[in-house]
Amino acid sequence: IPNDFQQMIDAHDLLRKFYHHLLVNTKDGQHALEYLLSRGFTIEAIEKFQIGYSLNSWDFVYKFLTKRNFPPDVMERAGLVIKRERDGTYFDRFRDRIMFPILDHKGNTIAFSGRSLGSDEPKYLNSPETAIFNKSKILYNFHQARASIKKTNQIVLFEGFADVIAADRSGVHNGVATMGTSLTDDHIVSIRRSAEAVTICYDGDKAGIEAAYRASQLLHSSGIQVRVAILPDGMDPDDYIRQNGEEKFQNEIISASVTLMNFKLRYLRRGKDLNNEGIRLQYIEEVLKEISQLEKVVERDHYLRQLASEFSLSLDALKQQQKQFFFANK
Ligand code: CTP
Ligand code: MN
Ligand code: MN
Ligand code: MN
Ligand code: MN
Repeated sequence: IPNDFQQMIDAHDLLRKFYHHLLVNTKDGQHALEYLLSRGFTIEAIEKFQIGYSLNSWDFVYKFLTKRNFPPDVMERAGLVIKRERDGTYFDRFRDRIMFPILDHKGNTIAFSGRSLGSDEPKYLNSPETAIFNKSKILYNFHQARASIKKTNQIVLFEGFADVIAADRSGVHNGVATMGTSLTDDHIVSIRRSAEAVTICYDGDKAGIEAAYRASQLLHSSGIQVRVAILPDGMDPDDYIRQNGEEKFQNEIISASVTLMNFKLRYLRRGKDLNNEGIRLQYIEEVLKEISQLEKVVERDHYLRQLASEFSLSLDALKQQQKQFFFANK
């Protein structure tokens, strides 16, 4: 590691500890701590995820790091301060925010995401891409989740910080997050190296469902076993756990996750009025096409029976038609 990179990491590690201290031990951080507790974050989670608070100051970080002999240009390249065009002075990037440290897969602190306390925009302010932080390569919490991922041979994939942290509280310790960005090839490589199966647990809103669809296809094509957890309309995992408790999340969301095929079927029928004959027939045809893509005869048979029973159709007729699609694929 070039000396420069090590300095950037050291600055992040120092700040992670100081932000955390400000949140849990000081009067300045008290309103931030109260905000977190009111959102259901526990003290244990705040410790485990090393959550912190950045002061409402333009130069706290600059002075703090200067005192510890970090050169301004290193702070700037690390994304911790920003240079003013006009006079070349510097100001802190993160001010008056809840700080989520982002660790690389070895446990070095390489970036932060700062959440506003109220409804200030942006909701999350992230470190820029730097020599040590590449958002498309990093999965939030991968470092801490590693042991549990190894033990279970599974990963639970979330969108965001609060989801991973709430899930951890409910016993899901193999959770990681893409931090809002869509799943990249680099993410998939990290996932495939460490687990055989993924449960996608994205938000139950339109954006989350679309992203889950895309992620499920990508993961499946790279040979990973995929299941998808279904959240009630408009809820994300953190909302769900706060409203329904940890046990229900385990039993009714994680354990009740559906197979890739059943997720696709739900996805295909979204917003469709299946009482309408034309729409229903079109849906059945789409499902048959999906079934014909399945590799295993047993699987094809299973979903054909499911379809036949749901719409009171003859299994033979469905089989006939499915075969046509199947051979059309070959
Ligand atoms: N995100 C981001 N920048 C934003 C919004 C979101 O980086 N302006 C990332 C964060 O990692 C966030 C994730 O995308 O955790 C999911 O976004 P969203 O569902 O909108 O936020 P929540 O995680 O639900 O945030 P909260 O519960 O704190 O409101
Ligand atoms: Mn502590
Ligand atoms: Mn979301
Ligand atoms: Mn969300
Ligand atoms: Mn949320």
